[in-house]
Amino acid sequence: MPAEGLLALRNVWKRFHSGGTETVALHDVDFVIEPGQFVTLIGPSGCGKSTLFNIIAGLEEPDGDGSVLFQGQPQRHRDLLGKVSFMPQKDLLFPWRTVLDNAALALEIEGMPRKAARQKAAALFPEFGLQGFEKHYPRQLSGGMRQRVALMRTFLFERELLLLDEPFGALDALTRSMMQRWLLEIWARHRRTVLFITHDIDEAIFLGDRVIVMSARPGTVRCDERVDLPRPRSGEVMLTPQFLDVKRRLLAIVEEESRKTFSASA
Ligand SMILES: Nc1ncnc2c1ncn2[C@@H]1O[C@H](COP(=O)(O)OP(=O)(O)OP(=O)(O)O)[C@@H](O)[C@H]1O
Ligand SMILES: [Mg+2]
Repeated sequence: MPAEGLLALRNVWKRFHSGGTETVALHDVDFVIEPGQFVTLIGPSGCGKSTLFNIIAGLEEPDGDGSVLFQGQPQRHRDLLGKVSFMPQKDLLFPWRTVLDNAALALEIEGMPRKAARQKAAALFPEFGLQGFEKHYPRQLSGGMRQRVALMRTFLFERELLLLDEPFGALDALTRSMMQRWLLEIWARHRRTVLFITHDIDEAIFLGDRVIVMSARPGTVRCDERVDLPRPRSGEVMLTPQFLDVKRRLLAIVEEESRKTFSASA
């Protein structure tokens, strides 16, 4: 693997123009993600996290001389489309497709015939806790189950890098902590590189090998902290002095940045 890791962002800026005003969403974002890492990204609302994902997924282009390198290669606009698995902030399941056909969609988009795609997707149902729900429609599932279908679809799109934008954002605390442990098990088995956006500091530390904290808009990397807690991790780890020490430090930064966001818009 080159020195640039699996993914490298260099001097990434993004400005939006609408209604005669300019919004600088991101400024000077720089970081490198190593293959196999689980990296969590946290920062105040509106600081540019989803914008950053759109850039990494190839849907948006960085401004100026900013660049994105994937496997050491500089990427031009749209080059990255299809090279990463991306779960956007909304689960985007199609209401008229069954759960199985929603999950199989990633494979069909790749050109796999529908029957083979269904078979491959069906094999993952037990692991994702969805066995027996193949023929249901999204509206017949709970929020947590819908999130798992969307995650399954993202995993089925077999790319080394997975981008997950607040996948558990809409869940209650109990379901959320179960999903976190479950995701770590899946990740340990499938060994993919994950970049995971969250608003929850416990979630960021519990899941991550590294937590990147973004500043208030215009978003940039405010702090990049290694999390050396041993794996596999259980919920107990959140009570250890080591965890609480990292949390105390990160919380101070996240709160400072969030205050800037709200005082700026007041
Ligand atoms: N297509 C767009 N056109 C204009 N402005 C945009 C566009 N997309 C995002 N923005 C602006 O860029 C800024 C960052 O938005 P973004 O969605 O990346 O934030 P975020 O960090 O993901 O927030 P949240 O935590 O609330 O999801 C916001 O001010 C938003 O209004
Ligand atoms: Mg967002």
